Amino acid sequence: MRENVLLIGGGGREHAIARALEDSEADLYACAGNRNPGIARIASGFETLETTDPAAVVDYAEDVGATIAVIGPEAYLEAGVADALEAAGVYPFGPKEAEARIETDKAFQREFMQENDVPGCPDFETFDDMEAACDFIDEYDGDLAIKPVGLTGGKGVKVIGDQVTAEEGKAYIRESDYDRIVLEERLIGEEFTVQAFVANGEFRTAPAVQDHKRAYEGDEGPNTGGMGSYSDASDELPFMTEDDYDEAVSIIEATVDALEDYRGILYGQFMLTTTGPRVVEFNARFGDPEAMNTLPVLETDFLDVLTAARDGESLPDLEFASRATVCKYAVPEGYPTDPEAGAKVQVDEESAGDALLYYASVDERDDGIYTTTSRSFALVGVADSIPAAEEIAEDALAVAGEEGLRVRHDIGKADLIQRRIDHMNELRGE
Ligand code: AMP
Ligand code: GLY
Repeated sequence: MRENVLLIGGGGREHAIARALEDSEADLYACAGNRNPGIARIASGFETLETTDPAAVVDYAEDVGATIAVIGPEAYLEAGVADALEAAGVYPFGPKEAEARIETDKAFQREFMQENDVPGCPDFETFDDMEAACDFIDEYDGDLAIKPVGLTGGKGVKVIGDQVTAEEGKAYIRESDYDRIVLEERLIGEEFTVQAFVANGEFRTAPAVQDHKRAYEGDEGPNTGGMGSYSDASDELPFMTEDDYDEAVSIIEATVDALEDYRGILYGQFMLTTTGPRVVEFNARFGDPEAMNTLPVLETDFLDVLTAARDGESLPDLEFASRATVCKYAVPEGYPTDPEAGAKVQVDEESAGDALLYYASVDERDDGIYTTTSRSFALVGVADSIPAAEEIAEDALAVAGEEGLRVRHDIGKADLIQRRIDHMNELRGE
């Protein structure tokens, strides 16, 4: 039976979701705050609207007769878009506002882990009084991560001993007017992501992915939404063991068990430490860029996952091709602090060759596609090994050129991956 599926969101992640539904029995419709040309070409209808307004989304869902909705970005979950869709009889694959707090409220997230004995939780304290937080920094024996409780697009966290000193951390707390922050134990190791498809109390996990949050090569510069990511032809990454991956999956399992009615993607961000994986955070949706590593290798029909979730059935076992992926975002020059929009995008789906092109924040005009002030587009190589996938992404980036753009060319390259392996070996004292 054909299903009318509404996709909400217009970034690279949502372009990857659209592609995953392209060859299925779904009639795809999409809405977003920006017009994503890649999604618009795939979808039967695309509406630009205020997507944090649940009523506007419901109106469009009803107009197109949607039976299922897939919600991409966290801000829409926080705005209650899933609640409104469900009330209107459209099945939302994405948690309701209350359960999305696992991502949207970092104090809730840590308290939830503590109360439910979910393993991997760092020591933490929550503060409403910013001076008390500064005193805690002075008294604490060790480094802390400073985390505003609300959504900051991954850019609000400051880690003492990494990006800032204790003095700079306190100045940051005093200068920002956050109402509430979490201070937590700084975790040391290598980060990785495991995303799970969740519904009806069940979950299915995808291979691990490593994102690169720092803006510049060599992991320098400010944090971004993510500059690119890679995955290997197996579930784990070159610096981890199978056991590390399995331990992360068991943390996800404990989390899903403690969440009553969660549905959608549960994204676990882990730090692989000398004592195993610990939880950096949970997100209530696919990662962006990580969706672009995961969905191209998903061989199971994503629509079958969505309909099983909606119909209260057991989720299908997921098959992933044993292929490595490397994803590199092209971002506007100056991103994320002083981005300069307006460069013409020189690569398209055809000239990208063997790479997959995913559009993100771009502006389609009569004479072409132009960058805006956020991440512009991503190129993804899929191959038998990480180096081969990296080369495919780089070949397409060469077509795109450098004019007005910045790319982290080091992502997926042998040097950087070896540094990750050496870092873990060093921490483990090997
Ligand atoms: P988040 O917004 O929670 O993903 O945090 C952004 C980034 O800050 C993470 O990807 C980590 O690199 C870093 N981070 C967050 N929490 C911690 C922590 N407890 N220890 C070390 N780094 C952290
Ligand atoms: N790649 C990080 C995120 O989607 O939050």
